[in-house]
Amino acid sequence: MKAARFYDKGDIRIEDIPEPTVEPGTVGIKVAWCGICGTDLHEFMEGPIFIPPCGHPHPISGESAPVTMGHEFSGVVYAVGEGVDDIKVGQHVVVEPYIVADDVPTGPGDHYNLSKNMNFIGLGGRGGGLSEKIAVKRRWVHPISDKIPLDQAALIEPLAVGYHAFVRSGAKAGDIALVGGGGPIGLLLAAVLKAKGITVILTELSAKRKEKAKESGVADYILDPSEVDLAKEVMKITEDRGVDVAFECTSVNKVLDSLVELTKPAGVIVIVSIWSHPATVNVHSMVMKELDMRGTIGYVNNHRDTIKLVEDGLINLEPFITQRIKLDELVSKGFETLIHNNESAVKIIVNPNL
Ligand SMILES: NC(=O)c1ccc[n+]([C@@H]2O[C@H](COP(=O)([O-])OP(=O)(O)OC[C@H]3O[C@@H](n4cnc5c(N)ncnc54)[C@H](O)[C@@H]3O)[C@@H](O)[C@H]2O)c1
Ligand SMILES: [Zn+2]
Repeated sequence: MKAARFYDKGDIRIEDIPEPTVEPGTVGIKVAWCGICGTDLHEFMEGPIFIPPCGHPHPISGESAPVTMGHEFSGVVYAVGEGVDDIKVGQHVVVEPYIVADDVPTGPGDHYNLSKNMNFIGLGGRGGGLSEKIAVKRRWVHPISDKIPLDQAALIEPLAVGYHAFVRSGAKAGDIALVGGGGPIGLLLAAVLKAKGITVILTELSAKRKEKAKESGVADYILDPSEVDLAKEVMKITEDRGVDVAFECTSVNKVLDSLVELTKPAGVIVIVSIWSHPATVNVHSMVMKELDMRGTIGYVNNHRDTIKLVEDGLINLEPFITQRIKLDELVSKGFETLIHNNESAVKIIVNPNL
C-alpha cells in the first residue's frame, strides 16, 4: 500500500509498504481523509522533533525513522482483531492518536496525555493516517455516526485539542473569551467556545482567516490588531472588565502580552501554542491581577464530547476544509502551500486512497 514516510528533515517519500497486520485487540482502518497539521510541517522543516530519529527507537513504539506520518484522520473499519467485539466492519471511526505505555491508566481523571514518553501515532510510529490502511489499538478508536461526513471527521482531532483547551480554561456559558490567533487551532477552539455559549473575540492578521472566522460564525468579534486598537476594542466589548478567559494560539510574544493585559482580575489564560523559544511575561500584572496561566496539551478523554458537538449540529467543520489533495501531492501541494502560502489555507486534507 501507499504511505507517506518521514526519513529526515526535508525528506518525505511516498512509498509502497506492506499492509498492517490486524493483531488481537486492534482495529483495521481504511483511511478516508487525513489532515496536515502544523506539527507535520515542523517535522518537515526543522525535524525530527516528535519523530524518533533513525537509529534512536522510541521507548514505547520501538520504532524510529522512517515512520509513516499523519495523526488527524478518519476512516472505515475493514477488519477487527481477535477480542474486539464492540466495533464492526463498515463502522466509520476517528482515532485519538496516542502512543502511551501499556501500564498507563487511561480512564476518567487519568492524565495519560502527560505520561512519560507519550507520543503520537503518525509521528512516534505505529503507522499513520497518511497511508491507505492502519491498525490501531481498540482503546484509541472512536466510532462516529453517519451524521459526520468522513472528510469533516478528519478535523475531529484538532477540534479535540480545542475542546481540551476549553476544559482547561474552566470557561462557562455567558463568559467572554479572547482567542489570540485564528489559525486552524484558534478557529476550531473558537467553534467549541461558541458551541458552549461563550462570547468569542478572535484576533487575527490574515485576510483569508479573518474571512473564515466570519463565514463560519465562530467568532462574535474579529479584531485585527494591525488595524484597530485591540485594548480599546476589548475594553469596550467587556465594559471595562477585561475578558474572563484568554487563549494563546500564535506563539507570538506580543499576543501573549495583550492577553495578560486584557484578561480580567482572577481570570485564566490558557497557552495552547507550542513555543520553541522562551517567552517573556509581565509577571507584575499577573501578580496584581491574580491571573492563572495554564498549559494544555492534546486531549484527555475529550473525544466523545467533541464528536457529540459535531453530531448534534453545534459545530459545522465544513468551512475549515480549504483544500483536498491526493497522497502523491502531499509535498508539492500540501506542505508547499502551508510553507509558502500559509494564509491561503486553513485545513488541507489528504485522501491516501485516491
Ligand atoms: N497544545 C496542543 O495540544 C496543540 C495541538 C496542536 C497544535 N498546537 C499549537 O497551536 C498553535 C497554533 O496552531 P495553528 O495550526 O493554528 O498555527 P498557525 O500558525 O496556522 O496559526 C497561527 C495564527 O496566528 C496568527 N497571528 C500571528 N501573529 C498574530 C498577531 N500578532 N495577532 C493575531 N494573530 C496573529 C497568524 O496569522 C495565524 O493565522 C501552534 O503553535 C501549534 O503548534 C498545540
Ligand atoms: Zn496535529
